[in-house]
Amino acid sequence: MTMPKDGKGVSPSPLMREHWQHIDKRSLDACRSAEWETLSQQKNDYLAARCADEVLRMLKIQADDPSFGYSVNMYQHCLQTATMMYRDNLPEEDIVVGLFHDIGYMVCPDAHGSFAALLLRPYISDRNHWMLEHHEVFQQVHFHEMDDIDPDEREQWRGHPYFDWTAEFIAKYDQLAINIDEEILPLEEFEPLVRRVFAKGHEAPTA
Ligand SMILES: [Fe+2]
Ligand SMILES: [Fe+2]
Repeated sequence: MTMPKDGKGVSPSPLMREHWQHIDKRSLDACRSAEWETLSQQKNDYLAARCADEVLRMLKIQADDPSFGYSVNMYQHCLQTATMMYRDNLPEEDIVVGLFHDIGYMVCPDAHGSFAALLLRPYISDRNHWMLEHHEVFQQVHFHEMDDIDPDEREQWRGHPYFDWTAEFIAKYDQLAINIDEEILPLEEFEPLVRRVFAKGHEAPTA
């Protein structure tokens, strides 16, 4: 990597709105209330406008990924999960959670439930946050003849208010969504739902 000879960095990144402004400070130490106010106003609008699309893009780039063995890849697994939930008329938030529940699997396989829980935290209920965080352990009850896996590990949470929902998500959707013969709706079908659920997690954009 070569640095520009004049010692300057890259050109300023374009702003999302025409009337916005770049702050001209070169360090956080140099920023004062005027800069924080500008950044805060623009950031709220920026995140409200872009978060849903950014998360959708994270899923979309996995569309043509190879599989490590299942006849559907992780992208299709996510879509099939959401498709089954959509067909069962589940609430929009549940369907969106199903759509993104394994979005981090390929980069964070051993903690992908926590990955999705953190990613979706601003937009979802405690019930779905808990479900995402624990779904990996709950799935173990469906892992038969795997010597190093305890299928009953989930029993430590028996009686928890979200135990039944997590068990239901796994049994009725997640563990079944590896079926190449079942319908998989395209991602575009879910995009309006995603935008509506994400819109609830942001304040109204600042003008
Ligand atoms: Fe998972
Ligand atoms: Fe899954």
